[in-house]
Amino acid sequence: MSFSIIGTGSALPKTIQTNEDLTEFLETSNEWIVSRTGIEARHICVEESILDIALDASLNALDNAQLKPQDLDLIICPTLGGDTVTPSLACLVEKELGAACPSFDLNAACSGFVYGLDVADAYFSRNKQMKILVIAVDAMSKLVNWKDRATAVLFGDGAGAAVLSSGDDLKAIHLTAVGNQHALCIPWQKGNHPLLRNQETLLPYLKMDGSEVYRFAVSAICKDLKIVVKEAGITLDDLDYVIPHQANLRIIESAAKRLKIPMEKFVLQVSFCGNTSAASIPLVLDEMNRQGKLIPGTRIALTAFGGGLTTGACILEWS
Ligand SMILES: CC(C)(COP(=O)(O)OP(=O)(O)OC[C@H]1O[C@@H](n2cnc3c(N)ncnc32)[C@H](O)[C@@H]1OP(=O)(O)O)[C@@H](O)C(=O)NCCC(=O)NCCS
Repeated sequence: MSFSIIGTGSALPKTIQTNEDLTEFLETSNEWIVSRTGIEARHICVEESILDIALDASLNALDNAQLKPQDLDLIICPTLGGDTVTPSLACLVEKELGAACPSFDLNAACSGFVYGLDVADAYFSRNKQMKILVIAVDAMSKLVNWKDRATAVLFGDGAGAAVLSSGDDLKAIHLTAVGNQHALCIPWQKGNHPLLRNQETLLPYLKMDGSEVYRFAVSAICKDLKIVVKEAGITLDDLDYVIPHQANLRIIESAAKRLKIPMEKFVLQVSFCGNTSAASIPLVLDEMNRQGKLIPGTRIALTAFGGGLTTGACILEWS
């Protein structure tokens, strides 16, 4: 016995920035961005804090699950970071919801939601009667260098949540990590101790080797999906839907072609959200849930990759 997803929620900040908007301050074009990535627009936190969108998505998911915040036994928040280093975003969500339960952040970059499900699964194996909120939130607009056209155009902000209860939806899950600072890195503050002199000043913004990440991503999706379907005792043909991390349409198309899975089975939001990091998969999951696409027996594969480098995939059978 593991968990079932009994509610989903999501939130996107109000401000929409189109590719055309970006051309006002970056040397780029709608044609370049669409042809290389499939991204047409992204949502950016301007009026909202990171906590605001995390709360919206969490309340949405609780409402969908017909639970009160006080019913929660644990909050896991996959994120690259909230508005403060401490308190963690999870603790602030817990406070604002009025929940009363242990809460922590988890950093596995864009694979964070699948990592969060795996951690939750371990809790269910210890105590089957829990209600766990996994709230994945990232505001990449605060972490990219808006002078770097090679990276800034790829990302957006968002939050996606799932409420888990004991059940049997999770059929297989597989995580990986291969430490790599070259492919994708966001440097951090190096401190201000008086003895620290002559330090290189690093901008705290995302740096990436796009083609290295691209190759890694296509191969990770293919490897991980084959592993989880085998572990679940099914084949790729048995999948109703694949929810891939929404980084780049071309990455998804290449993986689909290699795996011989029809593109129609891949559910996409990349065109209007861009890469929302940990939030990208639960944002799609919530949209599908609200559209009534998830009915008992629906088989879904989630497949994520991101900074770390990390990957995570799982098979869910909706109950
Ligand atoms: C970043 C990425 C879109 C680049 O696509 P690409 O097909 O490799 O790009 P190309 O090599 O065709 O083009 C690079 C050229 O476009 C230019 N370019 C980069 N960004 C540009 C932009 N926004 N607008 C216009 N030109 C741009 C570069 O300067 C370079 O020019 P040059 O050839 O004159 O040096 C692609 O590598 C990618 O998506 N990688 C994965 C990134 C990712 O998903 N990261 C997150 C993982 S969680």
